[in-house]
Amino acid sequence: MRKPLVAGNWKMNGSSASNNVLLDGIIAKSDTFASVDVALFPPAVYLHQVQQALAGTGLFWGTQNLSQFNQGAYTGEISALMLADFDCDYVLIGHSERRCLYAELDLDQRVLDRIVAEKYEMSVKAGITPIICIGESPEEHAVGRTEEVIARLLDTVIAYQGVEGLAHTVLAYEPVWAIGTGRSATPEWAQDVHSFMRQRVAKHDPTIAESLRILYGGSVNSNNAAPLFSQPDVDGGLVGGGSLNADEFVKICQAAV
Ligand code: G3P
Repeated sequence: MRKPLVAGNWKMNGSSASNNVLLDGIIAKSDTFASVDVALFPPAVYLHQVQQALAGTGLFWGTQNLSQFNQGAYTGEISALMLADFDCDYVLIGHSERRCLYAELDLDQRVLDRIVAEKYEMSVKAGITPIICIGESPEEHAVGRTEEVIARLLDTVIAYQGVEGLAHTVLAYEPVWAIGTGRSATPEWAQDVHSFMRQRVAKHDPTIAESLRILYGGSVNSNNAAPLFSQPDVDGGLVGGGSLNADEFVKICQAAV
């Protein structure tokens, strides 16, 4: 039985004051979703504030990115070893907004996949649980290339660390066309893609495939969370906008109970 996980990706939002309001609201209701793992991903400057607030609550925290390098002249980057210094629980890897907004997209997709795999390798070696974000673009979706895109990145990641690495990993299906649009995938579509992902991993190791948590992300809200999370291969959600309001995020977490 896989324990559900709901991750709140704050992206580039918040302030010390508003974070305290959000954190207090989530913590105050955490007993209502105690059977669910919940992880919060603030901007890097607020990691310490969130770590302090969540200490002893049973809630987890993580970072939205990390470097594929260990250390050195990489201005602005944060390494897995530095994050491990603070007992970071999770890290998002390969989020589409990292790929699109930071001009990484002009690299060949396979080069990008390699960078994702290298970041994944760094996080696993540092003992930080990676959440690898995978999803097709609107253009790829329109021409039916979803499974091809997902298979390509999954195969790259497995080639890098072996399927054994996935034993300590979470996957997130985040169709780019559903991110921030208010138009989530249907529960049926999400189930089909999650099942494809799980079967792709099962070809290498059925046991790891069965234990692997696969989250859905893309316009998750308190209305669509329950039908999405009720799908057999959907093990929770990776939530953006819905994680910025305590009441809304608590309802989404409760939908995973
Ligand atoms: O990482 C989660 C995010 O990409 C989804 O964003 O606002 O569509 O829930 P949103």
